[in-house]
Amino acid sequence: MEYLTTPYGVEELSSGNYKNNKKFLEELEKKMLNHEVFNHVFLKKLASGSYTQEGVIFVLKQFGKIVMPFTAAICKLMGNAPDIKSRFMLMDNLYEEMGHNNLNESHPILYLKMLDSIGITQAMLEQTPTISSIRVLNNTIYDAVANKHFAIGCAWLGYGGELTIPNNFPYLVNGIKKSFGSNINMDFWERHGERDQEHSDDATVVLCMNTTENQHSEIDEAVKDSLSIRATIWDELEKICDSKYTKTSVINGKEMSQLSPEYKALSEYYNALNNANITKMKNNWSRDTRAAFTSPLGGITRAFENIISSHDALFNSKIDIDVEYYDIEITNLENGFSAVGRERGTMSIDGVIMDVGFRTSRLFIKEDGAFKQLHHHGSFENVETQTAIMQAIAKLSA
Ligand SMILES: [Fe+2]
Repeated sequence: MEYLTTPYGVEELSSGNYKNNKKFLEELEKKMLNHEVFNHVFLKKLASGSYTQEGVIFVLKQFGKIVMPFTAAICKLMGNAPDIKSRFMLMDNLYEEMGHNNLNESHPILYLKMLDSIGITQAMLEQTPTISSIRVLNNTIYDAVANKHFAIGCAWLGYGGELTIPNNFPYLVNGIKKSFGSNINMDFWERHGERDQEHSDDATVVLCMNTTENQHSEIDEAVKDSLSIRATIWDELEKICDSKYTKTSVINGKEMSQLSPEYKALSEYYNALNNANITKMKNNWSRDTRAAFTSPLGGITRAFENIISSHDALFNSKIDIDVEYYDIEITNLENGFSAVGRERGTMSIDGVIMDVGFRTSRLFIKEDGAFKQLHHHGSFENVETQTAIMQAIAKLSA
């Protein structure tokens, strides 16, 4: 108990029935250790940054559909508690969920604050349709807390859910941080961590106090089903995110599919470069006087006009470039993003084609609502190639 004093005396906590139930739950927990809800492949993908920011927002909106009705379900379960002590046990958890003495710190409000910090309003959350597996979870929990025996309600709402938190939440937190860095309010997630172990222990106590051996098989099924529905939620989110929100791994300027604004800006750049299109190149660069182009061929070109004229000279020379961008890591910044990756492809100099590889970092900022390139830095991956190319270019201008 975090705020209140446990209502149970030593005698109750050491009764034969209590101990027998506790042993049953401990064994059940061990049996469930390898359940697919733990270390689910979707959570691993999310945590490793496999999905776009739009995808992470989609996941957070859906997760909100589980968070928002939770306090109502606790209240419903409290009403179904068979005695005042069991109800008192639940009150401790409800008190934390409701923000103790501060509504602004209640968990649903903390969740809304997190969404708000990334531009998602409560209305936008409410207008988002809930995916099927989350609807099934919510309906089943509601049915269990309202209509089933109190112990079964506890198994669905408390015990089953709490079991997944220590394993599942860190993946979600890592995925969010990977996508948003420090540009997101993480208070909701910081309220869940160590104290969830305490809630989980409370859920065990209240369940053990309110069940008997002949209910064990029903509790076994409730916990198993609760974990399985939660795994189905990760399955469904994985399917959607894989098809709609997987990060693009290679950009060559020929992309036809819908891209995130960051990848679109990169794609437009490579389209301009590979097709020697100066109009598109102009459109890709920032008008900011601090714009700088550090070419692997040498030098720093500063300011928009100079950058464009150096590209114009390149496009009108006997050098042809055909490269793609890969191994890309995008980091979203306050007013833009950075892209760190590699380029591979060919460079044709006066008809002689050579394989090339570059390490390439780009920085884009938002100007009039669109991403524009403020800085590019490129360097050869391989010194021998660099020497051969530089010699071939020197011959051109000789
Ligand atoms: Fe919570």
